[in-house]
Amino acid sequence: MGCKIIGWGKALPELVVTNDDLAKIVDTSDEWIVERTGIHARRISVNETTTDLASAAAEAALAKSGLAKEDIDLLICMTITPDAVVPSEACLVKMRLGLQNAIAFDLNAACSGCIYGLDVASSMIEASQGAGAGRRNPIKNALVVGVDRLSRITDWTDRATCVLFGDGAGAAVVSWDETAPGILSSFLHNTDDTALVLACDTIFDESTFPFGPTDGPVLVKEVAGLVEDGEEVALHPFIEMQGQAVYKFATSAMTEAAQMACERAGVSIDDVACIVPHQANERIIRYAAKKMHVPMERFQVSIGEVGNTSASSVLMALADAYDSGRINPGDKVLLAGFGGGLTYGSLLFVA
Ligand code: ACO
Repeated sequence: MGCKIIGWGKALPELVVTNDDLAKIVDTSDEWIVERTGIHARRISVNETTTDLASAAAEAALAKSGLAKEDIDLLICMTITPDAVVPSEACLVKMRLGLQNAIAFDLNAACSGCIYGLDVASSMIEASQGAGAGRRNPIKNALVVGVDRLSRITDWTDRATCVLFGDGAGAAVVSWDETAPGILSSFLHNTDDTALVLACDTIFDESTFPFGPTDGPVLVKEVAGLVEDGEEVALHPFIEMQGQAVYKFATSAMTEAAQMACERAGVSIDDVACIVPHQANERIIRYAAKKMHVPMERFQVSIGEVGNTSASSVLMALADAYDSGRINPGDKVLLAGFGGGLTYGSLLFVA
């Protein structure tokens, strides 16, 4: 007995932005972007809100699952770009969909969000259905939604980052099943981002704060102790990334995460039918495949038309893998991701 993914879905904004479109606003080319990343286009939300995208993906997953809205006991939204601080993104989606019986909260694990969210949801289900039955919030069915509109925290003058990202949402319904083998294993890990290779400041309006003067906005670089004496640091409410450092972290994190989930479950990687990795860069996926001696055919690659969609990437790619018939009942499926924090992790389950 264990948890089973019984529904999946995704949602994308309408606007398609091609590499050629980007070449009109920054000094880049289709050739460079395709060769270095595998990305041809991405979707950018013009008027779609984070709640619009999350709700559409959640509704698609719910429809696929065959469950009714009142069956959902838990909703987790994984995001770094919620529409509001309060109510949380999950509370906004719960209201929009009318999930009357669900408890709802957000989870921020950046691009590893899907893995962390699925692990938290399935752990809460297992805890309340197994030995904890009667003592914990009863949770049988959970909806997990990864959603991000990185377009709103992207510096559109920075060619090194703006060509990578896109907007979107992915969702899954996880359900307790007395006959399912369940989640075979998971692995979550954080390694300190001491050099801040991925960072983005928050904007709080301090202009009406009555107990000042303050030293100005809190800057992540200062909090992390990375400011030299006398160095001027400006607010940077956009993703700042040291691409090569992230690339190095990503390739080793992905491989370690995949190996750890297999080791914990006692499963050989050769017995995994489909690997669904975070879609950050096709080169990272190819590198990991080579290092793990796994043919690329067993990896789901969805990045080409959507780019890196952050917290929604793994669930969007998982939906693609199910919809294209790559995942069949009984298959072992491995999810692996990494992201800001630095977070990384994996989840191995039977479809
Ligand atoms: N178009 C043309 N040239 C570019 C572009 C661009 N869009 N971006 C950078 N360049 C140039 C650089 O300026 C540099 O020029 P120079 O040699 O004259 O200085 C040259 O291309 C090479 O730059 P590198 O940074 O060495 O390029 P690299 O091969 O490392 O590719 C990339 C850059 C694609 C960003 C890569 O480092 C990468 O994928 N890193 C990981 C990114 C990632 O996974 N981020 C997400 C993690 S978590 C999250 O999703 C938030």
